[in-house]
Amino acid sequence: MKHLIDPMDLSKQETDEIISLAQDIIAHRERYQGSMSHRKLATLFYEPSTRTRLSFTSAMMELGGNVLGFSDARNSSVSKGETVQDTVRVVGCFADVIAMRHSIEGAQLYATEVSRVPIINAGDGSHSHPTQTLTDLLTIQRELGRIDGITIGFCGDLRFGRTVHSLIKALSRYKDIKVILIAPQELKLPDYIKRDVCERTGIPYREVETMEEVMPELDVLYMTRVQKERFLDEDEFDRVKDSFVLDAARMSLAKKKMAVLHPLPRVNEILTEVDADPRAAYFRQVENGKFVREALIVKLHEWKDDPEHGMPAQEEPVYDDTLRCVNPKCICNNEHAPHKFRRGEDDVLRCWYCDSKVR
Ligand code: NCD
Repeated sequence: MKHLIDPMDLSKQETDEIISLAQDIIAHRERYQGSMSHRKLATLFYEPSTRTRLSFTSAMMELGGNVLGFSDARNSSVSKGETVQDTVRVVGCFADVIAMRHSIEGAQLYATEVSRVPIINAGDGSHSHPTQTLTDLLTIQRELGRIDGITIGFCGDLRFGRTVHSLIKALSRYKDIKVILIAPQELKLPDYIKRDVCERTGIPYREVETMEEVMPELDVLYMTRVQKERFLDEDEFDRVKDSFVLDAARMSLAKKKMAVLHPLPRVNEILTEVDADPRAAYFRQVENGKFVREALIVKLHEWKDDPEHGMPAQEEPVYDDTLRCVNPKCICNNEHAPHKFRRGEDDVLRCWYCDSKVR
């Protein structure tokens, strides 16, 4: 069975198949209406969402399927203390596929260990957001006509922005990608992405302090919101909250053919004066999210019983009872998930569920 917890759960070929199916759905919407009739999607959202939850809902409706679930865990048995694994066991009796968002990192991966239906990670803490990645890839393809060979600048909260982490991972499989990281010291990209993704796969990246110095070379500018809810320290948030703002003057430095993406919601990091610029792709990106989720639902259903499309082979986990994950927001510090680790670059041990470095 295929789950989508991390962008690397899909091979490059599977990713490309989803992107091209989404394009076919856009071109021939009527062909897919009814393809999921009598099937049910459960949306289990333990954390706020507008776009992601509604686009999953809308995607399933377009395919003629039904949707059930909750958008506020306080109204579910979670408030009685039910674990993620138990909830998923129960919901698997009612639905054919589950889309889950959780503020606890690794919650969805832990849930796959007991699930009898495919689970789609709709965002886990500041860790991963693979369906936003599919949305972003489709948007880049549609805006620029290619993904290979782009120079992409990630700007804003690269530390807590899960959409950034997942997109960089996925881009590591395309050709000649250049990554430029534009962030203040406090919001820099986590080390595990730099070392285990960029350095391991050889994506060139560089870190800069201002947008101006790199605007002219970008094919894609990926803007992000400072993730207020992930900060443990409010003063730190106040110091960085207005770090980078995109305005018309900065846009005037960019190439004529360029695309500004943002997973949304925006707060103040893109002025509304940019919205009318033809390069502002963020609202088109939202609609792409619906089409790509339709394609994903269709493909996960098609692959469900196909051994050719299982989960990718994993290295053996390391079990060590003397070690603990250092991340208070990891599933293994919130539920009874085992203390399980994977070996990263340079023999570093990382938590199996959230990738935090433990040794
Ligand atoms: C993002 C998310 O939830 O991570 N939004 C989304 O899914 N479109 C980005 C954000 O919240 O800033």
